[in-house]
Amino acid sequence: SANDALTGQQQTATYDSAFLKACRREPVPHTPVWFMRQAGRSLPEYRKVREGIAMLDSCMRPDLVTEITLQPVRRHGVDAAIYFSDIVVPLKAIGIDLDIKPGIGPVVENPIRSRADLEQLRALEPGDVSYVTEAIGMLTRELGTTPLIGFAGAPFTLASYLVEGGPSRNHERTKALMYGDPQLWADLLDRLADITAAFLKVQIEAGASAVQLFDSWVGALSPADYRRSVMPASVKVFDAVAGYGVPRIHFGVGTGELLGLMGEAGADVVGVDWRVPMDEAVRRVGPGKALQGNLDPAVLFAPREAVETKAREVLDAAAGLPGHVFNLGHGVLPDTDPEALTRLVEYVHTQTAR
Ligand code: CP3
Repeated sequence: SANDALTGQQQTATYDSAFLKACRREPVPHTPVWFMRQAGRSLPEYRKVREGIAMLDSCMRPDLVTEITLQPVRRHGVDAAIYFSDIVVPLKAIGIDLDIKPGIGPVVENPIRSRADLEQLRALEPGDVSYVTEAIGMLTRELGTTPLIGFAGAPFTLASYLVEGGPSRNHERTKALMYGDPQLWADLLDRLADITAAFLKVQIEAGASAVQLFDSWVGALSPADYRRSVMPASVKVFDAVAGYGVPRIHFGVGTGELLGLMGEAGADVVGVDWRVPMDEAVRRVGPGKALQGNLDPAVLFAPREAVETKAREVLDAAAGLPGHVFNLGHGVLPDTDPEALTRLVEYVHTQTAR
């Protein structure tokens, strides 16, 4: 595998990085930091290399993926890189007719709403995403001892795009299918679980040292509906990659009421948005899990002192927790001043140096 190119020394140093130690709830030299959507429009160097290249095309070019993934690591000194891609890439790779429209998000040409539509979802083979294997091989060599996080969309969030045909505020068609045809819904999520698991395996086998399952929109559901209609598929994904021993992170927005169940689904690290303080999140998730979060990304638009006050609150609320990965409560907003992000990394590192 691509991993064979790495020296044993490099692999050991990556394993001993602050980020992976925090994920395993081991003592760390400082609280590790990375940002969801750290690669992207907040960076002028990103906008420059993406000029004239469509989002999905950029995801299929290992040279661009490598450069874009490295940009925030170079600039901000974050403790982990996240593989530059999108949650719809594996769907595109199996032939779903979709595009990412600038300023809108993923748009699906033929939404999935009937049993016949399910046939669009064939299994994902590693050869469908050979550019991912290639890019991760290049990346792990360039990253040295900085860990690389692979990721995928969780079955519910992928289903929401496929059923709605695009981004949705209320997920009404998705819920209509979930409540109206539970068997079709279960079959849809089960197929998506297999695709997602296969996609995560490709990334881990190519050299990713952790994976994050994004269930961004699952906060739209009640705990009972989550447990009945979504959790079995997410459990299937986490079980499929359990044997690799790499930390599994699980994140969604507005999931305060679901944090316990999302941990139970099989995560080693539970991502928390900014609506629940970290100390309360610890109570909701229960023992044995690391937590990731949770500064409101909009706070970065306030003056430096205010950012530091709010970051301090996050650190204090997470103090005493073995296993805190500092992050935002959702992705970096496109108009964020990149300098504010660099200063925040430095602040967390100096404040938590042990
Ligand atoms: O740095 C990183 O975090 C890695 C890159 C990354 C992207 N998408 C790149 C991207 C990651 C982790 C994602 C995941 C993703 N994609 C999620 C889950 C994370 C979350 O934010 O909740 C979701 C829901 C999507 C679907 C999606 N793709 C949306 C909502 C958008 C934004 C649409 C827009 O233009 O505002 C995209 C497009 C997208 N994915 C962009 C980037 C950098 C912007 C497109 C561009 O730069 O041209």
